[in-house]
Amino acid sequence: MKQSRLDLFVVERERPLRSPDRMRRRRGAGAGTDYVHSRMQSVLAAACVAAVATAVVMISTARAATVSTAPFGTTQDGKPVSLYTMTSAHGVVVKFMSYGGTLTEILAPDRNGHAANVILGLPTLADYLKLGAASPYLGTLVGRYANRIAKGHFSLDGKDYTLAINNPPNALHGGLQGFDKRVWTVEPTAASGDAVSARLALTSPDGDQGYPGTLQVTVTYTLSDDNAFTITYQATTDKDTVLNLTNHAYFNLAGVGAPEGVYPQVLTINAASYLPTDAGAIPLGAPETVAGTPFDFRQPTQIGAHIRADNQQLLMAHGYDHNWVLNKTGDRSQPQFAARLVDPASGRRLECLTDQPGVQVYTSNFMKGDLAGVGGIYRQTDAVTLETQHYPDSPNHPDYPTTELKPGETFHSTTIFRFGVAR
Ligand code: BGC
Repeated sequence: MKQSRLDLFVVERERPLRSPDRMRRRRGAGAGTDYVHSRMQSVLAAACVAAVATAVVMISTARAATVSTAPFGTTQDGKPVSLYTMTSAHGVVVKFMSYGGTLTEILAPDRNGHAANVILGLPTLADYLKLGAASPYLGTLVGRYANRIAKGHFSLDGKDYTLAINNPPNALHGGLQGFDKRVWTVEPTAASGDAVSARLALTSPDGDQGYPGTLQVTVTYTLSDDNAFTITYQATTDKDTVLNLTNHAYFNLAGVGAPEGVYPQVLTINAASYLPTDAGAIPLGAPETVAGTPFDFRQPTQIGAHIRADNQQLLMAHGYDHNWVLNKTGDRSQPQFAARLVDPASGRRLECLTDQPGVQVYTSNFMKGDLAGVGGIYRQTDAVTLETQHYPDSPNHPDYPTTELKPGETFHSTTIFRFGVAR
């Protein structure tokens, strides 16, 4: 695995989480190809006047957060695709493209300031395009409905809807041409505070992939200088519909290509129960306790510790591919702690917070070594996803939190991936 030594200022301790509202207030408007915080100028000026600027200020001002863009090829039907690079002042770099809103690379520093790419990705747009229906959704946005709808069928307001069966016998991740295979409109947004953002937008027409209602979707990617990558989702509809949006990044905090995959990485999930499934990965019904099962990650546990346990759920899914029901306290509309992943060797740590009711944890079980990505050939357990979302097949489970969206309502959701270092 290739690692690059960046001249980094590593965040020593976690700062309190900013609320999305406060983040919104701090963001300014604007568009262009290269944005630098206005804070950079003011801090530089202050540093000159005071003449006592510390090394820390000099490093952080020299590296104020930016977002830049470059062409990344064209789709088969001739649509241009761009690659965006967001760089925080403190060492995290997030790259994504307009095709699928796909995160292609995230560079995160280890405890010594060495950056490595921590998500699975492919070298070129052509590599993503040629996957077609066999796409493993590497880093993509997923919609309209993340995960499965049983037998591609649901009813809403007494009307039956039929979806394409793209993962027999079920419908998966929004269908044959889900949001992961669309070119999103991207508008980088200059920030007035300590973050940079880009707003991705998509219109999904009425009947798209079988789903009712014209859906207007916007997703905002924000990278702040405390190395938090925040994804906010918003959607409106003109007819009653169902919706489940997520991002499908596959993480490996040792750096993609690490020979042991994610086995040694330590996962904590803030969940007392999970959803056992049938052989087609459809939840059987009510959540079951994780206590006494290989699904108990309430305490920090290595991913490899129980993944080979003789457990029917693990056998059917070829590893972990389940939805954990997140513990919630207080205001459920605010992002709350969902999961933490730590690589003890490098010290890299990822914290995931969300307002969604569940997280789908998937240990890349269906990667068979037939896909050459950045960092090598991808195989089972090379990476793990933390897909914050509603429960799979919710439209067919009236007892699950609802995924319905009605005209006049706005769907809002926030997930935060905060990178740091465990000392
Ligand atoms: C699902 C898996 C599926 C993978 C790639 C995950 O979100 O839970 O079952 O194989 O996505 O499509």
